[in-house]
Amino acid sequence: MCGIIGYIGDRKACDVIVSGLKRLEYRGYDSVGVVTENGGTLHIRKGAGKIGELEKKLGLSELPGTRGIGHTRWATHGIPDDTNAHPHTDCTGRIALVHNGIIENYLELKEELLKRGHIFKSDTDTEVIAHLIEEELKTAANFEEALRRALNRLKGSFALGIIYSGDGEHLYFVRNESPLVLGIGKGEMFAASDVPAFLPYTNRAVFIDDGEYVILSKEGYIVKDFRTGEVREKDVHTIEWSLKMAEKQGYPHFMLKEIHEQPKAVKEAIYGNAEGIADIAEEIAGYDKIFIVAMGTSYHAAIAGKYLFQRLARKVPVVEEASEFRYEAEGLLDENTLVIAITQSGETADTLAAIKLAKRNGAKTLSIVNVVGSMATRISDLVLYTHAGPEIGVAATKTYTTQLTVLAMLAIALARHLGTADEQLLNALEKRLYELPDLIAEALKHEENLKELAEALRDRKDFFYIGRGISVATALEGALKLKEISYIHAEGLSAGELKHGPLALIEDSVPVVAVAPSGRTFDKIVSNIEEAKARKGFIISLGDNDELMKISDVFIRMPEVDELLSPILYVVPLQLLAYHLAVLRGNDPDKPRNLAKSVTVE
Ligand code: F6R
Repeated sequence: MCGIIGYIGDRKACDVIVSGLKRLEYRGYDSVGVVTENGGTLHIRKGAGKIGELEKKLGLSELPGTRGIGHTRWATHGIPDDTNAHPHTDCTGRIALVHNGIIENYLELKEELLKRGHIFKSDTDTEVIAHLIEEELKTAANFEEALRRALNRLKGSFALGIIYSGDGEHLYFVRNESPLVLGIGKGEMFAASDVPAFLPYTNRAVFIDDGEYVILSKEGYIVKDFRTGEVREKDVHTIEWSLKMAEKQGYPHFMLKEIHEQPKAVKEAIYGNAEGIADIAEEIAGYDKIFIVAMGTSYHAAIAGKYLFQRLARKVPVVEEASEFRYEAEGLLDENTLVIAITQSGETADTLAAIKLAKRNGAKTLSIVNVVGSMATRISDLVLYTHAGPEIGVAATKTYTTQLTVLAMLAIALARHLGTADEQLLNALEKRLYELPDLIAEALKHEENLKELAEALRDRKDFFYIGRGISVATALEGALKLKEISYIHAEGLSAGELKHGPLALIEDSVPVVAVAPSGRTFDKIVSNIEEAKARKGFIISLGDNDELMKISDVFIRMPEVDELLSPILYVVPLQLLAYHLAVLRGNDPDKPRNLAKSVTVE
């Protein structure tokens, strides 16, 4: 959803900005732009395309000056072309700004500004902000006052980086419902949408909250509330992530690296939560009205969470997409409600709106989050971290398996606290959980076979993924992975649904991926596989029972694991299959078309 970055210090600003934009590219990659200031002049270069293509073409690394801002775009208003690329400027060319978010009242503001004689160059909502500040500057005492007045007229979500040629000492940044974090250096300061952008230079960070703006200078920062003008005190956090963690380390893509990091990530999730999980379980044990809300892959983790809570803790959570919950749950929430939000980024607009709604209505909120210090962690009553480390690939992989790990741990701790499951079963599950990192490493060994399978299936048009019980989550996630990076149509569904409609689409050679661990409904999914096979579907099954080999065209043997933990393991081959299909089809799996990693707009 666009990445912004700013630098002020003694280094060549464009170098810091260009390298930061490369690490922010996962947020959007339609177009790129940089502005620096030198001797009172703004130098702007921008264009449609990815930074790798444009860095040389536009001469981004030749821009003079030690102060500047940059942007990588995921288009909302206006097609991704050179003109709509950020930064945008006012009529005088003295104000340039970059924006992540959506200005909801931009049409109304644009009309007003057009009447006042402003000339617009782009189709973006962003450009109105530059003209609005310009307009306010005509009567304001100084730039800061003009900025504040303009900000108070904006509706929507915005993280902004602003440079004004009339003020050689500062950069300005703003946050309202789009992420913004400052990097604190010695004699130099950074601001960005996300920490990895400035991680090579500093690991000291200040997270900016909604409704705040920042005046950044070489020596420091002042944070103020843009509604009241009051100065806000901020805590400085030390970020544990290293730069190495945010690099490809020899892998051709971040996604492949992150798939292979799963044994380590799951281990970190287990050890990172082992101590605190019983306390969290105790805090939430009294709630019987529970919602689990999330979007996308995190929503699939929520579905698995429902099965874990039901089977172990005898609690039946309502699982809802945050985008639906936020408009449906008003009137359903009270102080006896628990809302669990699952979000990798901690910045997904719908998930944040769901947490805020829950809080407004007195509900208890627990967030399961990967990004430390993100908004979800700051507005929730309780937080569990997934400890997966930075995930740069747009498609979620290791953050999904760590979400599942945390949910399994929480359900086990809850069951233990409530006495709702046999202690022996809980101990056995826990023991198996600790073995999961090794089992995932085992599952990763299928990569060569999956690559060959991808070769054989590269031109197929439709895939079906089926599962039962908790494996429905794996079926949905397998299908999502395939869709988003290989651009092949895929459907994930509960296998029981097959003959209620979708079976009509199974014909000769249509791939049907059956997620079939041993467990309660194994025999049932075998019947579903037979049904698909009878329609000449091409059966790919994942499981630990040899019976599957006889009825499948391709059998992927999985290590034995309790059904309730199987989603953590079974999704791994599906991630690899999607990855190799994407690569074979010439797609960049790290940057799927039309998508961005953090969906910070509604
Ligand atoms: C898919 C994917 C998305 C995210 C979704 C929620 O691979 O990554 O579907 O899962 O946008 O994002 P978070 O978890 O950051 O709230």
